[in-house]
Amino acid sequence: MCGIIGFAGREEAAPILLDGLARMEYRGYDSAGIAVRSNQWGLQAKKSRGRLERLYELTHGGKDLDGPLGIGHTRWATHGEPNDCNAHPHISEDGRIALVHNGIIENYMEIKEKLIREGVRFASETDTEVAVQLLAYYYKQCGSMLEAVGKVLHRIEGSYAFGIICADYPNALIAARKDSPLILGFGEKGNFIASDVTAILKYTRDVIYMEDGEIAVITADSIDVFDQEFTPIEKKVNKIEWDVSAAEKGGYAHFMFKEILEQPEAIRKTIAPRIRDGKIIFDNFLITPEELKNLSRIYIIACGSAYHVGAICKYTWEKLLRRPVEVCLASEFRYSDPLVDKNTLAIIISQSGETLDSMAALREAKRLGARTLAIVNVVGSSIAREADQVLYTWAGPEIAVATTKAYSTQLILMDLIGLYLGDLLNTISKEDYQIILRQIETLPEKMRACLSKLDDAQYLASRHFNHNSIFFIGRNLDYAMGLEGSLKLKEISYIHSEAYASGELKHGTISLIEPGTLVIALGTYHALFDKAMSNVVEVKARGAEVLAITTESYRERMEKIADDTISVPDVHPILQPSLGIIPLQLFAYYVALQRGCDIDKPRNLAKSVTVE
Ligand code: M6R
Repeated sequence: MCGIIGFAGREEAAPILLDGLARMEYRGYDSAGIAVRSNQWGLQAKKSRGRLERLYELTHGGKDLDGPLGIGHTRWATHGEPNDCNAHPHISEDGRIALVHNGIIENYMEIKEKLIREGVRFASETDTEVAVQLLAYYYKQCGSMLEAVGKVLHRIEGSYAFGIICADYPNALIAARKDSPLILGFGEKGNFIASDVTAILKYTRDVIYMEDGEIAVITADSIDVFDQEFTPIEKKVNKIEWDVSAAEKGGYAHFMFKEILEQPEAIRKTIAPRIRDGKIIFDNFLITPEELKNLSRIYIIACGSAYHVGAICKYTWEKLLRRPVEVCLASEFRYSDPLVDKNTLAIIISQSGETLDSMAALREAKRLGARTLAIVNVVGSSIAREADQVLYTWAGPEIAVATTKAYSTQLILMDLIGLYLGDLLNTISKEDYQIILRQIETLPEKMRACLSKLDDAQYLASRHFNHNSIFFIGRNLDYAMGLEGSLKLKEISYIHSEAYASGELKHGTISLIEPGTLVIALGTYHALFDKAMSNVVEVKARGAEVLAITTESYRERMEKIADDTISVPDVHPILQPSLGIIPLQLFAYYVALQRGCDIDKPRNLAKSVTVE
């Protein structure tokens, strides 16, 4: 999705803006641009469709635009096709104001028609241009930029994060936010605005999270935040703990590969602070044991891979808690008139903490009275701040669009919470609690063992990268894990792929199996291993080629039927998906590599989906 950076400082802004935009490339974009205020030339802007390299070339690495105040943007088209003209920043007709915007201005048509009647000429098809033209219109009337910004914010409807510079204000950058993330950063050589902390991590770790309805004025030496009536607001400065190198490729060909390899450490960091003296500790957990007993419903709500974590937890939590657990796609939950009351616990899982559907679902659950718990990776993100309680996954920055380490840390954190609640409810024996907890602690090492067998996945990918369609089959936890394996493959390799509950094959899907079809059979769930074997036999009988994933103790049996078998270490069944997913991630990665796909930035996808 779109990215914003802005800088007000004591050195040239353009190279810093380009660097910040490059660090947000992973979010997905189709065009980019920067605008800088120069003492000599006033506002100068350069924009271009396509990759950032074009913008680098156009500006000679930023050298063509001089001045210490500027804004930059990577656009993901919503209103108007991706072209130079629709790219941000947008400039007012008189050339004195430049603005970048994330979000959508819903009443832009009505405002545009009014401004056209007033004689304003528009240069683009975007909703965003309305904001800058309206701003110029009010500015002409009142002569104060801040007052004009206030009027625009009252007039427009929708969501926004704005960065604004004006030729008449040589030192100040203005920012405003509603329903679209924006942070303010204190740097040594100047101060920043950014939609994503990775854009400015190289320059600062001290940030302010803007809240909805806030306006900020940023200069090289100060950051002032106001409400919409321009009353100053005292804001807390937060320290970002992320390691800068974690957001850099560090010699790896792709972020996705690096992040796959980082999983054992990410898991370790997520579990270690929560286990003390053989007990799981969640300080001030939002639900007391008494309230837990009275819970009528537990919802797990999320999108994409985070939803697939929920799909696994439906099986594991129902075992651990002996309570019904519903897993909902956030985009469906918000419109489904959900059965939520004050005895409902709604758990929202989101890596970015900014996914619009998940955010809307969280608000809906809160509105209906639920207790809300967020499982989030990005500290200070919107979902993290709005939920009643947040528990962070400590995956560090995840840059590749296809999630791997965030998924794994979400899964392990949910395992820990499930175990913790099962213990509170006494629905799990003390003995099982200890067994599972001890096995959780062995997971980083076992994951390393899975990752040491890269070659198997690489070899199988080299044999299978040419398929047009690949099926994943499995039962129970294997089925839920297959959903994620299939998503990984399709999103980065563009091969059509579906995951099916094996028992459903006979109810329709098996008609798709023909000689040569690749079926990835998941047989890591021991309780249903024999059934999994029957399904493998079934698809083999129709000519399918079968690549099986199983555990070491079942490898021999699987090898007798499957064409190829990858095995992962054995662990408690509840935890097995944490290991089983690794060969699937690697297979997807190597298949995409063989097909020459843009692995970190797959087509049409964005890292955080902040529109509906
Ligand atoms: O940031 P979130 O976890 O809320 O994102 C949810 C999905 O958009 C995300 O998991 C998506 O499916 C990934 N591309 C999967 O790799």
